[in-house]
Amino acid sequence: MMIEPATKASSTLKEMLNRAIAMEIAVSVQYMWQHVQATGVKAVAVQNVFRETAITEMKHAEKIAERLWYLTGTPTTQPTKINVGGNLKEFLENNAKAELEAITFYKQIVKQAESEGDVTTAFIFKEILEDEEEHHDTFTTILEEV
Ligand SMILES: [Fe+2]
Ligand SMILES: [Fe+2]
Repeated sequence: MMIEPATKASSTLKEMLNRAIAMEIAVSVQYMWQHVQATGVKAVAVQNVFRETAITEMKHAEKIAERLWYLTGTPTTQPTKINVGGNLKEFLENNAKAELEAITFYKQIVKQAESEGDVTTAFIFKEILEDEEEHHDTFTTILEEV
């Protein structure tokens, strides 16, 4: 028996959630491999930032996937493009860019969800946005020191 969710989502919103999941998987892997590949004094000093942030992104992916599943969508397993980079400066530049893309896109998701009366999805993305803005700030701040 198919249980109807209390909130219905448009295919547009469901596709947006799946793109968000793909972006979260991508940055999770990106930051994890940067943690592994960090070499040199400066990189080692910020190694744990990559690791901690990778874990947060994985939690975002899970949170969004749970919401999409509730809205009768199937979460993707495919990441968007992963851009690790070859040195610390490239890591940080790629990450700041990825965070900025997430911030821009998640604001669009909030608007779309609100236009459909889906306050829960809007709320979830407002919370995630707070993390992404913090990540963007962290990466750009470290970048100034490199
Ligand atoms: Fe995220
Ligand atoms: Fe992030």
